[in-house]
Amino acid sequence: MSLKRPFKLGSLILPSNVFCAPLAGCSDLPFRKMIAKYRPGLLYCEMVKMGSLIHGNGKNPELLDYETAMRPIGAQICGSSPAMAEECAKIIEDLGFDTIDLNCGCPVDKITKDGSGSALLKNPDLIGEIISRMAAVVDIPVTVKIRAGWDANSIVGPEVTRIAEQAGAVAICVHGRTRCQSYAEPANWDYIRDCKRAAHHIQVIGNGDIFDGLSAEKIFAHTECDAILLSRGTMGRPWLTDDVYRRLSGEPPLIRTAMDSRDAFLEHLEHIVSYRDPHKAVFDLRRVGCWFLRNIKGARGLRDTINRAQSSLEIRQMIHDYFRNECEPS
Ligand SMILES: Cc1cc2nc3c(=O)[nH]c(=O)nc-3n(C[C@H](O)[C@H](O)[C@H](O)COP(=O)(O)O)c2cc1C
Repeated sequence: MSLKRPFKLGSLILPSNVFCAPLAGCSDLPFRKMIAKYRPGLLYCEMVKMGSLIHGNGKNPELLDYETAMRPIGAQICGSSPAMAEECAKIIEDLGFDTIDLNCGCPVDKITKDGSGSALLKNPDLIGEIISRMAAVVDIPVTVKIRAGWDANSIVGPEVTRIAEQAGAVAICVHGRTRCQSYAEPANWDYIRDCKRAAHHIQVIGNGDIFDGLSAEKIFAHTECDAILLSRGTMGRPWLTDDVYRRLSGEPPLIRTAMDSRDAFLEHLEHIVSYRDPHKAVFDLRRVGCWFLRNIKGARGLRDTINRAQSSLEIRQMIHDYFRNECEPS
Protein backbone atom coordinates (compact mmCIF):
# COMPACT_ATOMS: atom_id res chain seq x y z
CA MET A 1 0.00 0.00 0.00
CA SER A 2 1.26 3.49 -0.83
CA LEU A 3 2.61 5.54 2.06
CA LYS A 4 1.56 8.62 0.12
CA ARG A 5 -2.01 9.38 0.99
CA PRO A 6 -4.44 12.27 1.47
CA PHE A 7 -4.18 13.90 4.86
CA LYS A 8 -6.96 15.17 7.11
CA LEU A 9 -5.88 18.38 8.81
CA GLY A 10 -8.83 19.38 10.97
CA SER A 11 -11.61 20.22 8.56
CA LEU A 12 -9.29 20.19 5.53
CA ILE A 13 -8.45 17.27 3.29
CA LEU A 14 -4.95 17.88 1.97
CA PRO A 15 -3.91 16.15 -1.26
CA SER A 16 -1.02 14.35 0.40
CA ASN A 17 0.91 13.79 3.60
CA VAL A 18 4.16 15.27 2.24
CA PHE A 19 4.55 18.94 3.18
CA CYS A 20 7.16 21.62 2.48
CA ALA A 21 8.56 23.63 5.35
CA PRO A 22 8.70 27.25 6.30
CA LEU A 23 12.29 28.38 5.64
CA ALA A 24 13.05 31.90 6.83
CA GLY A 25 15.07 33.79 4.26
CA CYS A 26 14.44 31.09 1.64
CA SER A 27 10.83 30.06 1.11
CA ASP A 28 9.78 33.33 -0.48
CA LEU A 29 7.29 33.56 -3.34
CA PRO A 30 9.75 32.65 -6.13
CA PHE A 31 10.95 29.62 -4.13
CA ARG A 32 7.41 28.48 -3.47
CA LYS A 33 6.47 28.90 -7.13
CA MET A 34 9.15 26.34 -7.93
CA ILE A 35 8.04 23.92 -5.21
CA ALA A 36 4.30 24.27 -5.86
CA LYS A 37 4.69 22.72 -9.33
CA TYR A 38 5.28 19.37 -7.65
CA ARG A 39 2.06 19.61 -5.65
CA PRO A 40 3.09 19.10 -2.01
CA GLY A 41 0.24 18.32 0.39
CA LEU A 42 0.87 21.65 2.10
CA LEU A 43 3.32 24.46 1.46
CA TYR A 44 4.44 26.98 4.06
CA CYS A 45 5.49 30.60 3.80
CA GLU A 46 8.43 31.84 5.86
CA MET A 47 7.63 32.50 9.51
CA VAL A 48 6.39 35.98 10.31
CA LYS A 49 6.86 37.70 13.66
CA MET A 50 3.62 38.44 15.47
CA GLY A 51 4.65 42.06 16.02
CA SER A 52 5.35 42.77 12.37
CA LEU A 53 2.11 41.15 11.28
CA ILE A 54 0.06 43.22 13.69
CA HIS A 55 1.91 46.50 13.26
CA GLY A 56 1.92 46.17 9.47
CA ASN A 57 -1.56 47.76 9.70
CA GLY A 58 -3.21 44.89 7.90
CA LYS A 59 -0.81 45.18 4.97
CA ASN A 60 0.13 41.77 3.74
CA PRO A 61 3.85 41.49 4.49
CA GLU A 62 5.91 40.21 1.60
CA LEU A 63 6.68 37.07 3.60
CA LEU A 64 3.05 36.08 3.23
CA ASP A 65 2.65 36.71 -0.50
CA TYR A 66 1.07 33.73 -2.18
CA GLU A 67 -0.72 32.73 -5.34
CA THR A 68 -3.74 30.46 -5.66
CA ALA A 69 -1.65 27.81 -7.42
CA MET A 70 0.31 27.37 -4.18
CA ARG A 71 -2.66 26.20 -2.18
CA PRO A 72 -3.03 24.51 0.21
CA ILE A 73 -0.86 27.15 1.83
CA GLY A 74 0.12 27.61 5.46
CA ALA A 75 1.37 30.60 7.43
CA GLN A 76 3.55 30.37 10.49
CA ILE A 77 3.70 32.94 13.27
CA CYS A 78 6.48 33.46 15.76
CA GLY A 79 6.13 35.15 19.14
CA SER A 80 5.19 34.39 22.74
CA SER A 81 2.22 36.61 23.55
CA PRO A 82 -1.15 34.79 23.69
CA ALA A 83 -3.04 38.02 22.99
CA MET A 84 -0.94 38.81 19.94
CA ALA A 85 -1.20 35.22 18.72
CA GLU A 86 -4.97 35.51 18.84
CA GLU A 87 -4.89 38.70 16.80
CA CYS A 88 -2.46 37.18 14.31
CA ALA A 89 -4.57 34.09 13.86
CA LYS A 90 -7.48 36.27 12.79
CA ILE A 91 -5.30 38.25 10.38
CA ILE A 92 -3.93 35.07 8.83
CA GLU A 93 -7.39 33.62 8.39
CA ASP A 94 -8.57 36.88 6.81
CA LEU A 95 -5.64 36.74 4.39
CA GLY A 96 -7.09 33.47 3.11
CA PHE A 97 -4.55 31.01 4.46
CA ASP A 98 -5.63 27.40 4.77
CA THR A 99 -3.90 26.79 8.08
CA ILE A 100 -1.80 28.53 10.74
CA ASP A 101 1.19 27.22 12.65
CA LEU A 102 2.92 28.40 15.82
CA ASN A 103 6.72 28.36 15.68
CA CYS A 104 8.26 26.73 18.75
CA GLY A 105 11.49 25.70 17.08
CA CYS A 106 13.44 28.72 15.89
CA PRO A 107 16.84 28.53 17.62
CA VAL A 108 18.12 32.01 16.72
CA ASP A 109 19.14 34.14 19.72
CA LYS A 110 17.31 37.26 18.57
CA ILE A 111 14.07 35.23 18.53
CA THR A 112 14.60 33.19 21.71
CA LYS A 113 15.75 36.12 23.83
CA ASP A 114 12.17 37.33 24.32
CA GLY A 115 10.88 33.82 24.96
CA SER A 116 9.76 33.09 21.37
CA GLY A 117 10.60 30.22 18.99
CA SER A 118 12.35 27.34 20.71
CA ALA A 119 12.46 29.27 24.02
CA LEU A 120 8.75 28.43 24.30
CA LEU A 121 9.84 24.83 24.90
CA LYS A 122 10.94 25.98 28.35
CA ASN A 123 7.33 26.85 29.09
CA PRO A 124 5.00 24.17 27.69
CA ASP A 125 1.97 25.61 29.48
CA LEU A 126 2.43 28.89 27.65
CA ILE A 127 2.43 26.96 24.36
CA GLY A 128 -0.92 25.51 25.41
CA GLU A 129 -2.30 28.94 26.27
CA ILE A 130 -1.19 30.44 22.96
CA ILE A 131 -2.69 27.57 20.95
CA SER A 132 -6.03 27.71 22.75
CA ARG A 133 -6.27 31.46 22.15
CA MET A 134 -5.58 30.90 18.46
CA ALA A 135 -7.91 27.94 18.09
CA ALA A 136 -10.73 29.80 19.81
CA VAL A 137 -10.88 32.58 17.23
CA VAL A 138 -10.36 30.89 13.87
CA ASP A 139 -12.01 28.16 11.83
CA ILE A 140 -8.81 27.20 10.00
CA PRO A 141 -6.77 24.39 11.56
CA VAL A 142 -4.14 25.43 14.12
CA THR A 143 -0.86 23.51 14.31
CA VAL A 144 2.45 23.83 16.12
CA LYS A 145 6.01 23.10 15.07
CA ILE A 146 8.53 22.17 17.75
CA ARG A 147 12.00 20.88 18.36
CA ALA A 148 12.28 18.02 20.84
CA GLY A 149 13.38 20.29 23.67
CA TRP A 150 15.83 23.01 24.58
CA ASP A 151 18.65 20.52 25.12
CA ALA A 152 19.14 16.79 25.62
CA ASN A 153 18.41 17.21 29.37
CA SER A 154 15.07 18.89 28.83
CA ILE A 155 13.16 16.85 26.26
CA VAL A 156 9.55 18.03 26.25
CA GLY A 157 8.24 16.72 22.92
CA PRO A 158 5.73 14.21 24.35
CA GLU A 159 4.54 16.69 27.00
CA VAL A 160 4.07 19.46 24.43
CA THR A 161 2.27 17.00 22.14
CA ARG A 162 -0.32 16.30 24.85
CA ILE A 163 -0.64 19.96 25.80
CA ALA A 164 -1.04 21.05 22.16
CA GLU A 165 -3.67 18.37 21.61
CA GLN A 166 -5.70 19.50 24.60
CA ALA A 167 -5.37 23.12 23.56
CA GLY A 168 -6.93 22.45 20.16
CA ALA A 169 -4.00 21.95 17.77
CA VAL A 170 -4.83 19.39 15.08
CA ALA A 171 -1.22 18.55 14.24
CA ILE A 172 2.24 18.91 15.68
CA CYS A 173 5.34 18.93 13.55
CA VAL A 174 8.39 17.59 15.35
CA HIS A 175 11.89 18.45 14.17
CA GLY A 176 14.05 15.67 15.58
CA ARG A 177 16.67 17.94 17.11
CA THR A 178 16.97 19.99 20.28
CA ARG A 179 17.52 23.76 20.31
CA CYS A 180 21.13 23.20 21.27
CA GLN A 181 21.81 20.60 18.60
CA SER A 182 23.41 21.86 15.43
CA TYR A 183 22.80 20.58 11.94
CA ALA A 184 26.18 18.85 12.08
CA GLU A 185 24.50 16.10 14.10
CA PRO A 186 21.88 13.92 12.42
CA ALA A 187 18.25 14.38 13.42
CA ASN A 188 17.12 11.93 16.07
CA TRP A 189 13.88 10.41 14.82
CA ASP A 190 13.28 8.71 18.19
CA TYR A 191 12.13 12.11 19.42
CA ILE A 192 9.42 12.10 16.76
CA ARG A 193 8.43 8.51 17.51
CA ASP A 194 8.03 9.41 21.20
CA CYS A 195 5.70 12.28 20.33
CA LYS A 196 3.65 9.98 18.12
CA ARG A 197 3.33 7.54 21.02
CA ALA A 198 2.16 10.36 23.29
CA ALA A 199 -0.47 11.54 20.80
CA HIS A 200 -4.12 10.49 21.03
CA HIS A 201 -5.84 12.25 18.15
CA ILE A 202 -3.35 15.01 17.27
CA GLN A 203 -1.51 14.17 14.05
CA VAL A 204 2.27 14.03 14.14
CA ILE A 205 4.38 15.35 11.28
CA GLY A 206 7.97 14.08 11.17
CA ASN A 207 10.78 16.41 10.16
CA GLY A 208 14.55 16.30 9.94
CA ASP A 209 17.05 15.05 7.38
CA ILE A 210 14.61 13.98 4.68
CA PHE A 211 16.69 14.43 1.56
CA ASP A 212 15.32 11.79 -0.79
CA GLY A 213 12.64 9.17 -1.25
CA LEU A 214 14.48 6.60 0.81
CA SER A 215 14.83 8.81 3.88
CA ALA A 216 11.16 9.73 3.55
CA GLU A 217 10.20 6.08 3.57
CA LYS A 218 12.49 5.42 6.53
CA ILE A 219 11.16 8.23 8.71
CA PHE A 220 7.60 6.95 8.24
CA ALA A 221 8.71 3.45 9.23
CA HIS A 222 10.83 4.58 12.18
CA THR A 223 8.38 7.01 13.76
CA GLU A 224 4.97 5.90 12.47
CA CYS A 225 4.29 9.59 11.92
CA ASP A 226 1.21 10.66 9.97
CA ALA A 227 2.92 13.06 7.56
CA ILE A 228 6.38 14.39 6.80
CA LEU A 229 7.83 17.84 6.26
CA LEU A 230 10.63 18.41 3.74
CA SER A 231 12.97 21.29 4.48
CA ARG A 232 16.61 21.84 3.44
CA GLY A 233 16.28 19.03 0.91
CA THR A 234 14.11 21.26 -1.27
CA MET A 235 16.81 23.92 -1.66
CA GLY A 236 17.99 23.63 -5.25
CA ARG A 237 15.87 20.50 -5.65
CA PRO A 238 12.33 21.76 -6.06
CA TRP A 239 11.35 18.31 -7.36
CA LEU A 240 12.04 16.59 -4.01
CA THR A 241 8.30 16.27 -3.33
CA ASP A 242 7.96 14.33 -6.58
CA ASP A 243 10.96 12.12 -5.76
CA VAL A 244 9.36 11.33 -2.41
CA TYR A 245 5.95 10.65 -3.97
CA ARG A 246 7.54 8.21 -6.39
CA ARG A 247 9.29 6.29 -3.67
CA LEU A 248 6.26 6.20 -1.37
CA SER A 249 4.07 5.00 -4.24
CA GLY A 250 6.54 2.36 -5.39
CA GLU A 251 7.24 4.11 -8.70
CA PRO A 252 10.73 4.09 -10.24
CA PRO A 253 12.84 7.18 -9.45
CA LEU A 254 13.60 9.84 -12.02
CA ILE A 255 17.28 10.57 -12.54
CA ARG A 256 17.87 14.29 -12.02
CA THR A 257 20.65 15.57 -14.25
CA ALA A 258 22.89 18.65 -14.33
CA MET A 259 20.64 19.93 -17.11
CA ASP A 260 17.62 19.62 -14.81
CA SER A 261 19.49 21.75 -12.26
CA ARG A 262 20.36 24.31 -14.94
CA ASP A 263 16.78 24.50 -16.18
CA ALA A 264 15.40 24.81 -12.65
CA PHE A 265 17.92 27.52 -11.82
CA LEU A 266 16.94 29.46 -14.95
CA GLU A 267 13.27 29.08 -14.12
CA HIS A 268 13.84 30.19 -10.52
CA LEU A 269 15.84 33.12 -11.90
CA GLU A 270 12.88 34.28 -13.98
CA HIS A 271 10.59 34.13 -10.94
CA ILE A 272 13.08 36.20 -8.92
CA VAL A 273 13.59 38.74 -11.69
CA SER A 274 9.87 39.32 -12.09
CA TYR A 275 9.34 39.61 -8.31
CA ARG A 276 12.31 41.55 -6.93
CA ASP A 277 13.89 44.91 -7.67
CA PRO A 278 17.06 44.46 -9.75
CA HIS A 279 19.46 44.99 -6.84
CA LYS A 280 17.80 42.49 -4.50
CA ALA A 281 17.37 40.06 -7.39
CA VAL A 282 21.14 39.78 -7.80
CA PHE A 283 21.60 39.00 -4.10
CA ASP A 284 18.87 36.38 -4.20
CA LEU A 285 20.34 34.81 -7.33
CA ARG A 286 23.75 34.44 -5.72
CA ARG A 287 22.19 32.60 -2.77
CA VAL A 288 19.92 30.43 -4.90
CA GLY A 289 22.67 29.73 -7.44
CA CYS A 290 24.77 28.00 -4.79
CA TRP A 291 22.00 25.49 -4.15
CA PHE A 292 21.46 24.61 -7.78
CA LEU A 293 25.13 24.39 -8.65
CA ARG A 294 26.51 22.67 -5.55
CA ASN A 295 26.23 19.16 -6.95
CA ILE A 296 27.44 19.96 -10.44
CA LYS A 297 30.97 18.77 -10.97
CA GLY A 298 33.39 21.59 -11.74
CA ALA A 299 30.84 24.37 -11.19
CA ARG A 300 32.79 26.02 -8.37
CA GLY A 301 34.21 28.60 -10.79
CA LEU A 302 30.72 29.41 -12.04
CA ARG A 303 29.51 29.87 -8.46
CA ASP A 304 32.38 32.28 -7.83
CA THR A 305 31.66 34.35 -10.94
CA ILE A 306 27.97 34.46 -10.13
CA ASN A 307 28.90 35.79 -6.72
CA ARG A 308 30.65 38.72 -8.40
CA ALA A 309 27.93 39.39 -10.99
CA GLN A 310 26.22 42.77 -10.97
CA SER A 311 22.99 41.99 -12.80
CA SER A 312 20.57 39.15 -13.39
CA LEU A 313 21.19 39.54 -17.12
CA GLU A 314 24.86 38.76 -16.54
CA ILE A 315 23.98 35.75 -14.39
CA ARG A 316 21.60 34.37 -17.02
CA GLN A 317 24.33 34.68 -19.65
CA MET A 318 26.91 33.03 -17.37
CA ILE A 319 24.70 30.00 -16.88
CA HIS A 320 24.05 29.65 -20.59
CA ASP A 321 27.75 30.01 -21.45
CA TYR A 322 28.87 27.59 -18.77
CA PHE A 323 26.52 24.83 -19.80
CA ARG A 324 27.26 25.39 -23.49
CA ASN A 325 31.03 25.27 -23.04
CA GLU A 326 31.84 23.23 -19.97
CA CYS A 327 29.11 20.83 -19.11
CA GLU A 328 28.22 17.87 -21.26
CA PRO A 329 24.53 17.03 -21.03
CA SER A 330 24.19 13.91 -18.89
C1 LIG B 1 17.56 28.52 6.41
C2 LIG B 1 16.52 27.88 7.29
C3 LIG B 1 15.39 28.59 7.63
C4 LIG B 1 14.41 28.01 8.45
N1 LIG B 1 13.27 28.71 8.74
C5 LIG B 1 12.31 28.14 9.48
C6 LIG B 1 11.09 28.83 9.73
O1 LIG B 1 10.86 29.96 9.29
N2 LIG B 1 10.17 28.19 10.51
C7 LIG B 1 10.37 26.93 11.00
O2 LIG B 1 9.51 26.39 11.69
N3 LIG B 1 11.50 26.25 10.74
C8 LIG B 1 12.46 26.83 10.00
N4 LIG B 1 13.59 26.13 9.72
C9 LIG B 1 13.70 24.73 10.16
C10 LIG B 1 13.23 23.77 9.06
O3 LIG B 1 11.90 24.01 8.69
C11 LIG B 1 13.35 22.30 9.52
O4 LIG B 1 12.60 22.13 10.68
C12 LIG B 1 14.78 21.90 9.78
O5 LIG B 1 15.66 22.40 8.81
C13 LIG B 1 14.94 20.39 9.87
O6 LIG B 1 14.61 19.76 8.66
P1 LIG B 1 15.76 19.32 7.61
O7 LIG B 1 16.81 18.56 8.41
O8 LIG B 1 15.03 18.42 6.64
O9 LIG B 1 16.28 20.55 6.99
C14 LIG B 1 14.59 26.69 8.93
C15 LIG B 1 15.74 25.99 8.59
C16 LIG B 1 16.70 26.56 7.78
C17 LIG B 1 17.91 25.76 7.40
